[in-house]
Amino acid sequence: MHFPVVAPVRTVTLALTGASGMPYAIRLLSCLLKADITVWLLYSQAAQIVAQQESQWHLPANAGQCTEVLCQQFQTTPQKLHVFGRDEWFAPPASGSNPADAMIICPASMGAIAAIAAGTSDHLLERAADVSIKENRPLIVVPRETPLSAIHLQNLLKLAQLGVCILPPVAGFYHHPQTIDDMVDFVVARILDQLHIPHTLMPRWGADQLSDH
Ligand SMILES: Cc1cc2nc3c(=O)[nH]c(=O)nc-3n(C[C@H](O)[C@H](O)[C@H](O)COP(=O)(O)O)c2cc1C
Repeated sequence: MHFPVVAPVRTVTLALTGASGMPYAIRLLSCLLKADITVWLLYSQAAQIVAQQESQWHLPANAGQCTEVLCQQFQTTPQKLHVFGRDEWFAPPASGSNPADAMIICPASMGAIAAIAAGTSDHLLERAADVSIKENRPLIVVPRETPLSAIHLQNLLKLAQLGVCILPPVAGFYHHPQTIDDMVDFVVARILDQLHIPHTLMPRWGADQLSDH
């Protein structure tokens, strides 16, 4: 069973790890900010490499500098979008006394899934996930690997049994996607739906039936 959503969600910890799928992260970040959600952004070193490699998205190593760059890129303020560094143990998501309303790990590497399933809390990203689990806050992971080994499946099952929402970035075709953006939006819509965050990324299933009546 998933953790209940504390409605409405106002703050989200968004964590990026070194799996393929940065277009999902970029679109998700943009949608969260558009929905007026405050975002605390965390990313691993491997995420920086993947972001650069597949989306030419430069995430500076220094968190303060990254906050500045991203606020400019997404036309927002450090109050709404704040990056925390790997070892910033005084950051809000490090403590059960001040976690975000929800946490999303997108994309989630198999390494990150393993570390979180093992509860290592070695750096802020892992600790924030550990805090989400112990505080029964909604945690969504968007794991990306294929094929999945028994190790991956066991770790994912462990997290699912702890109440974590496992949301693989699996494309649907029933909305007849025409572009890569359409396919990205499909997954991002599913993530936002989990947290009841409003969006207009794609029409709702059956909505055209209702408008005819
Ligand atoms: C370009 C690139 C793509 C990668 N894609 C994946 C992937 O899809 N899934 C995965 O589990 N690991 C992938 N990896 C490997 C992880 O980045 C690596 O295991 C890393 O240690 C994960 O660290 P992190 O969980 O701290 O981000 C990729 C690495 C690179 C450089």
